[in-house]
Amino acid sequence: MWKHREDFDLIMTVDVPDDSWDGEVGLVTRLFDRLDVEPDATFGAICGPPVMYKYVIDEMRKKNMDADRIYVSFERRMKCGIGKCGHCGVGHQYACIDGRSSTTGKP
Ligand code: FES
Repeated sequence: MWKHREDFDLIMTVDVPDDSWDGEVGLVTRLFDRLDVEPDATFGAICGPPVMYKYVIDEMRKKNMDADRIYVSFERRMKCGIGKCGHCGVGHQYACIDGRSSTTGKP
């Protein structure tokens, strides 16, 4: 589990905590202020509600991370998975058939 790895820093936050939560509370973007990032040794991977992607990418770019080191997941938008329904469309591409999508748009 990532939480117990010594070579990995894991910081989690939730918007609405329950009684058992003892971690951070608030939007994930507020965590970036305390991160010390080495841009050339760091990759970003984003999954979750697509509405937050822009804001998280903005924070990563403020940490001088190149766009080609930032990966986003569009799996939540998939439905048919074979390029027929258009549900996973991102611009002129389909996440399900065009493979990975990065902020550079390179497949
Ligand atoms: S999930 Fe239907 S086109 Fe991609």
